[in-house]
Order: sequence, then C-alpha cells, then structure tokens
Amino acid sequence: MALRLGDLAPDFTAETTEGTIQFHSWLGDSWGILFSHPADYTPVCTTELGATAKLGAEFARRNVKVAAVSVDPLDAHHGWVKDINETQGTTVKFPIIADPNRVVATAYDMIHPNADDKATVRSVFVIGPDKKIKLTLTYPASTGRNFLELLRVIDSLQLTAKYRVATPADWQEGQDCIITPAVKDAEAETLFPKGFRKVKPYLRYTPQPNR
Ligand code: BEZ
Repeated sequence: MALRLGDLAPDFTAETTEGTIQFHSWLGDSWGILFSHPADYTPVCTTELGATAKLGAEFARRNVKVAAVSVDPLDAHHGWVKDINETQGTTVKFPIIADPNRVVATAYDMIHPNADDKATVRSVFVIGPDKKIKLTLTYPASTGRNFLELLRVIDSLQLTAKYRVATPADWQEGQDCIITPAVKDAEAETLFPKGFRKVKPYLRYTPQPNR
C-alpha cells in the first residue's frame, strides 16, 4: 500500500555515491528529503539534481539532508554526477542511491506501472526528525520539480511543527500565518503576543511567530 502522511518512513541500507548508508541512522536528527528520478543520463533529471545541488546551503541551513534514488547502478550514478557538475555548474554533494534491485523503489512505492513499469516516477518524501512522512509529491517523468517549492514547504513544516499556526496559499517565509481553528481567541492572545487580525471567526492571521 502506498505510504501516507504520518507513516514511518521505511528504513533501508543502500549503496550510494557517498558510500553505503543505513537510511534512518544517516538521517540522524535531521529532516530528510528522499526523491526519486526515472533514470540517469536523462535531461530533466540532470537539471533536477543540479538544482538540488545548488540549493545545498539552503537545505543545510534548515537541517535537511537530501538523498536521490533511481534504479540505475552505482557506476552509472558516478559517471552521471560528472556530467551534472559539468553541465549545471555545480557540485553534487548529496548521496544518489543505487537501487537496481528496487528495494527502495518498492518500499516507497516509487514505480507506478501504469506510467512506467521499469523506472521510478518523480516521487518526493519529506521526512521529519521522528522519521515520519510529512509530505509526499508525485510528478510524471516529463515534468521537472520546483526545488524552491520544497524549501518553502520545509519552512512551513518546521514552523507549524513548533507553533499552532498553519500557512496560507502561496505563503513565503516572513509572511503572516493563520491561527489553527482549535485555538480559541482568548488563548490566541497569549500564544501570539504580536496580536492577530480576525477576518472571520475561522480566519485569523498573525505575524509569523518565530521572527
Ligand atoms: C528526463 O529526465 O529528461 C526524462 C526521464 C524519463 C522520461 C522522460 C524524461
């Protein structure tokens, strides 16, 4: 069955471009992003891994470890990384998991046979420090993902894990947040000392609490 939000992220041991990892212990106390791509030496995937590498400092600043996976073997990954670095003007420093036996792809349901019965689709799993799945995304092979959106989502996930707020449509770090419905107005006055704006009884905005 497909993994759902709140499920424990399956653990695994795998060979990667950065050596063998045991996934949970490699994650440690960090947040994690595990994302699959259909195949090495393909154009969209090349740009995606380049984009991820360029955002390395942003992921690190948020305490997020990133790992990519495909069903290609390790020697292909190593050769392809050189192409990514050359063509995308960056240095890939995160592990790319070799999954020729589909251990990771199967555990995370990354092969969708009605799209492609051999290659992984473009799955994304954001995993919290408790090893639970906080977000999933699935894109087709033909559409490259937006990695700035992943940073935005991480900002929201980390904020809403600590404060009783949610983030509205298209929210960006620094913008007003929404007070969650379970918080009563009287409690909101204590929880959010910067105040709040009540547009409707169920729609209350407050400045981002951790800024
Ligand atoms: C790509 O990464 O460019 C790609 C991979 C598989 C199918 C289509 C495109």
